[in-house]
Amino acid sequence: MAITIEMKRKKQKYNWNIIVLLRRRYLHRPLISAVSASILLLFTAISLFLPSPSPLPLPLQNNSNSHHHSAFQVPESGCGSCGRDIWTSTHSHLFSACSNAQLNFTKANVKTHQDRYLLIATSGGLNQQRTGIIDAVVAAYLLNATLVLPHLDHTSFWKDTRHAVLLTKFDYRLSNKLDEDLQKLRCRVNYHALKFTDYIQVMGKLLVERMRMKSKHFIALHLRFEPDMLAFSGCYYGGGENERIELGEIRKRWKNLRASNPEKVRRHGRCPLTPQEVGLMLRALGFGSEVHLYVASGEIYGGEITLAPLRALFPNFHSKETLATKEELAPFQSFSSRMAALDFIVCGDSDVFVTNNNGNMAKILAGTRRYMGHKPTIRPNAKKLNRLLMNKNNMTWEEFGSGVRSFQVGFMGEPNELRPGSGEFHENPSSCICQNSELKTLENMNNNNNNNNKDIEEQFSEEEWSTTDSSLPLEMRKDQAELQEFFSD
Ligand SMILES: *[C@@H]1O[C@H](CO)[C@@H](O)[C@H](O)[C@H]1NC(C)=O
Ligand SMILES: *[C@@H]1O[C@H](CO)[C@@H](O)[C@H](O)[C@H]1NC(C)=O
Ligand SMILES: *[C@@H]1O[C@H](CO)[C@@H](O)[C@H](O)[C@H]1NC(C)=O
Ligand SMILES: *[C@@H]1O[C@H](CO)[C@@H](O)[C@H](O)[C@H]1NC(C)=O
Repeated sequence: MAITIEMKRKKQKYNWNIIVLLRRRYLHRPLISAVSASILLLFTAISLFLPSPSPLPLPLQNNSNSHHHSAFQVPESGCGSCGRDIWTSTHSHLFSACSNAQLNFTKANVKTHQDRYLLIATSGGLNQQRTGIIDAVVAAYLLNATLVLPHLDHTSFWKDTRHAVLLTKFDYRLSNKLDEDLQKLRCRVNYHALKFTDYIQVMGKLLVERMRMKSKHFIALHLRFEPDMLAFSGCYYGGGENERIELGEIRKRWKNLRASNPEKVRRHGRCPLTPQEVGLMLRALGFGSEVHLYVASGEIYGGEITLAPLRALFPNFHSKETLATKEELAPFQSFSSRMAALDFIVCGDSDVFVTNNNGNMAKILAGTRRYMGHKPTIRPNAKKLNRLLMNKNNMTWEEFGSGVRSFQVGFMGEPNELRPGSGEFHENPSSCICQNSELKTLENMNNNNNNNNKDIEEQFSEEEWSTTDSSLPLEMRKDQAELQEFFSD
């Protein structure tokens, strides 16, 4: 197969015949950049003029706390008696990480050409940059080139490029399916070589320590519930006319959005769970009100009012801001990727990680946690849970709880939940996870996990929840996919 690497501004094409598939996702790149730049500008401009959504909220509380004759009484306690340890994956001890190079893997220093360099430009959120860099290492290996570490200064990467290849973000998305050796190389880069700078690392660990001083175990929740994300999703959260107007106003930013069909979006499991819904799911899964929760989130639609039901369920509610002083956070505060890096560290180290979204950060953390010993990682099975959540007012807590537990089988970060090769490599690094030789019990556990496999396969065969499926509100003009960038993290 051939890869084509275009030098964007010079409009020249270089072809190498090597065995790597660089997925070319977009056809008219220069155009796209122009489009995206102007959208970006637009974004800034519009957000200056839009009134920030009034914290007039989602009547999430309406059906939550007290409601007449409700048999739906949320208990304080988790599952003292459920007979298993909710903080660990049952079969994790049967697997371990295995990303060392095989003996026949040619060392880079043997095959690298002296005067061949690969330059890359990174862009996007923290986690997009991470995958970009990882794939660039693999590309450099295949091209027998030395990778020049990305320079984040946009003006300087044109200098001295006589022997350099420039990859832009659209060019270097490597295929999911590479030889095992190359997948292992990806893992070595992702899980061992790439590190945050020391002061980020130190601050991240400090936050983790402070959580551990409060209790032996903790849950980290990566919560995305930003107004623009909700508007784009086309979901409706029951906030009546106010919500329709506010989110409808934001939707006007995207010219090509079709009229939304909230019912349908919800049926397809594409509505991020609300903070309250996440809380109810966690309680049903056995986490009582004494559990400490670290919440990583950006702006929340409806603000504190939307968060209140989750706080009520989990009063030990923490974040960077509550764990660290203003002074400690000052060096990070005005850089969104540094703040995101701190959350990444705490979420990665948590005993249980839960998300309400399927973005880049959630995916990469899920993969990292598999590699690091299958630490429990809860992804809501939104398609099934939504039906349950909609009907919760006419069922008992016990019915609700048992529904949640059965729908979440296969979505808990247990080994073998995903078929090798399914999903994106970064969320399912199966080439880098090996079964320990002792085990022969594997067949049994496979049978236990089969329940929801179809859902899982479906969920993971889709890309970002926000833009790729045909049921989405976008008319799929190629350049529209750029919008995805705004919602990625
Ligand atoms: C919330 O409940 C109150 C009464 O219980 C009702 O009047 C109000 O309309 C409800 N709000 C929504 C948006 O359903
Ligand atoms: C190395 O050996 C493995 C099998 O042991 C094989 O699958 C792989 O293709 C080999 N790699 C190279 C670069 O020859
Ligand atoms: C890289 O080096 C290997 C081994 O020397 C060679 O087989 C391969 O063709 C080279 N690839 C490129 C793109 O130069
Ligand atoms: C709850 O009520 C709705 C309609 O009122 C009904 O369709 C649904 O089956 C009920 N669910 C349960 C679990 O009884």
